[in-house]
Amino acid sequence: MNHPGDDLRPATVADALSMAVVMERASTHRKSRLVPNRSIDSDIDYLVERLGRPGAWCRVAIMNGEIVGFVAGNPLMRDGQHDSDTQDLGLIMVAPDWQGYGIGRKLLEWAAGYHGARKVKFLELWTQEDNTRARRLYESLGSTLTGETKMRQDESMVRYRLSL
Ligand SMILES: CC(C)(COP(=O)(O)OP(=O)(O)OC[C@H]1O[C@@H](n2cnc3c(N)ncnc32)[C@H](O)[C@@H]1OP(=O)(O)O)[C@@H](O)C(=O)NCCC(=O)NCCS
Repeated sequence: MNHPGDDLRPATVADALSMAVVMERASTHRKSRLVPNRSIDSDIDYLVERLGRPGAWCRVAIMNGEIVGFVAGNPLMRDGQHDSDTQDLGLIMVAPDWQGYGIGRKLLEWAAGYHGARKVKFLELWTQEDNTRARRLYESLGSTLTGETKMRQDESMVRYRLSL
């Protein structure tokens, strides 16, 4: 067995099904219930759309030959314009069986290192206000709240910014 997160590689559209399975399991596990109005097909479509966005980036974490997590994002759009200083981290997910082994941290550290090396100044992301696990991870790397909030699918969201 390799070590958690040792094996990160770029995602391709062919990974969308495996990524959708991770996403469905991670979301269901976090909410402790099935998410209504959701299907694997719509998750695949969403992931394919994300991977095709201009400037999109993604890494999948492989364990024993299987995708067990991923991080994905794209340049931030602000008022219809690309903000060249900021990358938007749209998704970070680890399959429930593999949570707590350092894979989420590895994916986030990869994103910070990758964009920091390309002179990006900030990595920003939304997370659920009550997602203590994710928030602890982001804060442990130095992310701070921007003060922006919104509602998404009946959940209260907060925005974090990590200076690279
Ligand atoms: C959030 C998530 C990506 C973290 O991935 P992970 O691989 O479990 O995280 P790691 O094992 O790298 O742990 C990183 C940190 O998370 C926190 N953490 C991990 N397991 C935890 C637990 N059981 N309870 C509380 N915090 C925990 C800790 O701060 C940990 O820091 P440490 O390494 O110093 O212990 C993962 O839990 C997940 O996919 N959750 C569901 C989807 C989700 O909420 N995504 C984020 C939405 S924005």
